[in-house]
Amino acid sequence: MRIDILTLFPEMFTGPLSESIVKRAVAKGLAEIHIHDIRDFSKDKHQRVDDYQFGGGAGMVMMAEPVVDAIESLTSVRKYDEVIFMTPDGEQFSQSVANGLSLHENIILVCGHYKGLDERVREHFITREISIGDYVLSGGELAACVVADAVIRLLPGVLNDETSALSDSFQDGLLSAPVYTRPSEFRGWKVPDILLSGHEKNIAEWRMQQSLERTKKRRPDLLD
Ligand code: 6GU
Repeated sequence: MRIDILTLFPEMFTGPLSESIVKRAVAKGLAEIHIHDIRDFSKDKHQRVDDYQFGGGAGMVMMAEPVVDAIESLTSVRKYDEVIFMTPDGEQFSQSVANGLSLHENIILVCGHYKGLDERVREHFITREISIGDYVLSGGELAACVVADAVIRLLPGVLNDETSALSDSFQDGLLSAPVYTRPSEFRGWKVPDILLSGHEKNIAEWRMQQSLERTKKRRPDLLD
């Protein structure tokens, strides 16, 4: 899978996408991430990418031309499954949205900043709009990192244990059961006996019951 990210702040991606599972996926050739600076597509001599909004009002708006030129520099080379605008008024991101995106070959994530993006770009070039939750971030960059991470870890071969994405919280609509590692006793607190029993069937049942209880208590909305 190839993910192209269009941004005014390319340096925001160096850390989050260069560590851990995403780093390994890229190193293995299972995912490609390409970051593009929208400013490079400005034709203005001052490399302007934003301007005042028509009708007045506070806040600058990202201009159509540099964003469209950046999008077309990619779509003219290969076919993209989605051109996604990261924006707080988009569709709410979720595990099921991540699962769907992970089936694509090529996607573009456009990061919004300032007051927004000229509506004509959204109408004519953007195929989908995603928000990561009901709060406002300074820009779409952190949200794009969230989406890229959630999607890349689902690609076949990325996780060591192929089943481990399946036991993630939310993957089956439930929160995960608690987990423990050595030592079996820490400051007098013991690991539940059942996990030390070696009885696989009972352990699986215990985990399912813990998942259900935890979900009922913390996220009853998931059970509706
Ligand atoms: Cl995608 N962008 C911004 N700026 N804020 C957000 C968001 C996106 N998702 C939640 N808050």
